[in-house]
Amino acid sequence: MGTENLAPLRPGLENVPVAESAISFIDGKRARLEYRGIAAETLAKESNFEETTYLLWKGHLPSQKELLDFDAELRHHRRLKFKLLDLIKCLPETGHPMGALQASVAALGMFYPAKEVTNPQSNWESAVRILAKMPTVVAAFHRFRHGDEAITPRDDLDHAGNFYWMLFEKLPSPATRKLLDACLVLHAEHTMNASTFSARVTGSTLPDPYSVISSAIGTLYGPLHGGANEEALAMFEEIGDKSNVDSWFKETVAKKRKVMGFGHRVYKVKDPRATVLQDLAEKLFAEAGRPPLYDTALELERVANSVYGPKGIYPNVDYFSGLVYQALGIPTDLFTPIFAIARSAGWLAHWFEQLQNNRIFRPEQIYVGKRDQEYIPLAQRV
Ligand code: SDX
Repeated sequence: MGTENLAPLRPGLENVPVAESAISFIDGKRARLEYRGIAAETLAKESNFEETTYLLWKGHLPSQKELLDFDAELRHHRRLKFKLLDLIKCLPETGHPMGALQASVAALGMFYPAKEVTNPQSNWESAVRILAKMPTVVAAFHRFRHGDEAITPRDDLDHAGNFYWMLFEKLPSPATRKLLDACLVLHAEHTMNASTFSARVTGSTLPDPYSVISSAIGTLYGPLHGGANEEALAMFEEIGDKSNVDSWFKETVAKKRKVMGFGHRVYKVKDPRATVLQDLAEKLFAEAGRPPLYDTALELERVANSVYGPKGIYPNVDYFSGLVYQALGIPTDLFTPIFAIARSAGWLAHWFEQLQNNRIFRPEQIYVGKRDQEYIPLAQRV
């Protein structure tokens, strides 16, 4: 194909719509994020992760019976096959939990074959299994890497509460459970981000949904995307006291290093999720004590805004989330797996939507290499 019909090159597909979607909407200038038209921060305060997932998947809020049935379905599918638990037990305890999660979700597709993606009932059951089992996988890996047995899921706890229980074998306080649930809601969906695009690209070739979600997990893992929450906390720890912010920031700018948890392809103001997470963090810190790193984060935000603000670079969802999870006692390398547990709701909503009007993704390129080269036999090459 010549270059006569090509669209202009758009690195990273910036500003290029690749699908029509009715799942979520972002206004990057007015800091607005809506799931099926409802403000995400309202859902984080008034709803819960199970109801929000139903809304994302079905396009409307559930009735009381629909929610009860959906919640019961999720609770019923949290357990893992013993062979999958054995597989997770064999993974290196020094490996990153995102590797365990991606491997386990791909392996789930071997235990629950679901290649018939034209069957809505089969697709629904797969989506329920994936959403319900991902927290159990993450918690099991975390327990095994410390030499402990996995903790059996409890049917009497909701999604967030059960995940906390399987991690620590203790019940979260009502405030902790609500905070964790709100974090899951805020991370559930975000239009055509890289990992959601990855899910749609993989989904467009019609493999089983476990392959789709394992693709998305790998994409989310990167430090420019879901891995930024872990990097942002490491950055605060590297800075240490807030009195070091100024010198650290000057050096960072001079070295052209990125401030983790800052900047966004769409938001050119502070990410509304960062604002909500910051409010939730301050409520938590008022009860549990204010971590010194929070003051470091606030000082870095103040200093960085003065330089990056005019360029539309402000804190994103990953800037404060790590401080919240750390205050909840969650290990740093579980921050991104929690992001994946939440975003599985959005990925699966986009997978359903892609299948409704599918066309395989196959973009073009602008070829800049050599043409019509001769083959030179090895004996003649210097
Ligand atoms: C998430 O897409 C989504 O919706 C993602 C997400 C979701 O919910 O799914 O919101 C979750 O991934 C949030 C982003 C987490 N990543 C980080 O915090 C990593 C740091 N941020 C950057 O890498 C960057 O801001 C991105 C990746 C988030 C956005 O990248 P873009 O849109 O491709 O912007 P860019 O890298 O081309 O930067 C444009 C300019 C550059 O300066 P110039 O070369 O033009 O002079 O802005 C600068 C960049 O250097 N810049 C930054 C910066 N982010 C952008 N400079 C310093 N620190 C930063 N964090």
